Amino acid sequence: MNTSFINEVASLGGFTEEDRRLLAEMKPALEKHAATIVDNFYANLEKNERTRAILYAKPGRIEALKGHLRRWLVSLAEGVYGDDYFANRYRIGYRHVEVGLEPRYVIAAMAYCRTIAARYIVDTEYADDPQKEARYAALNKVMDLDLNIMLQSYDDKRVQQFLEVTGFSRELFENLMSGEV
Ligand code: HEM
Repeated sequence: MNTSFINEVASLGGFTEEDRRLLAEMKPALEKHAATIVDNFYANLEKNERTRAILYAKPGRIEALKGHLRRWLVSLAEGVYGDDYFANRYRIGYRHVEVGLEPRYVIAAMAYCRTIAARYIVDTEYADDPQKEARYAALNKVMDLDLNIMLQSYDDKRVQQFLEVTGFSRELFENLMSGEV
C-alpha cells in the first residue's frame, strides 16, 4: 500500500530511475552543504512570528531540529523509496500535526528549502555540469514526493478527528466526499 502510494505519485510526478541516480550522485554535496542549508532554513523560520514561537516553545528544540533536518536532507539521496521511506516521511508529517503546525507552513518551508538546496547543491557544486537542469528537477521531484507523504498524514488525521467527533462511518464520509449520497 505504501510502496504503491510512492510508485503512483512518483510515476505521475515523473520521478524516474535517472532522478534517483542523480540524487545518489549528489549525496556527498548534500552532506557537504547540509549545515549551511539547515542554518538558512531555520533562520528563515525565525523571521515569522508563528513559526518562531513553535521553534522556541521548548528549550533545546531548535538545536534538536537542526539535527533532524540535516538527516532528512541527506536521506533524500538514499536511493530507496519504498515502505520504510513512506513510513519515515509519514511520521515526520504526523509530528507536525501533533505540534499543531498548520500545513501551509510546511508547504512554504519546503518551497524555501528547494530554493536554498538548488543554490548550495547545484549552483555551487554543478555550475558547469551538462545535467544541471536535471539535478534541479531531481531535487524538486523528491521534495514533492516528501511533501505529498507529509500532507497525507495531515489529511488522515483530520478525517480521523471528523469521524470521531461526528460518529460518521468512514464509508458514509467517503460517499459524502465523492458526492454520491
Ligand atoms: C520542509 C519542511 C519540513 C521538514 C522536512 C521538517 C522536518 C522535520 C523532522 C525530520 C522532524 C523530526 C520528526 C520526528 O520526531 O521524527 C521535525 C519535527 C518538527 N518540526 Fe519540522 N520540518 C519541516 C517544516 C517545519 C516547520 C515550517 C516548522 C515550524 C516551526 C517545523 C517545526 C517542527 C517541530 C516543532 C517539530 C517537533 C520537534 C519536537 O519533537 O520537539 N517544521 N521536522
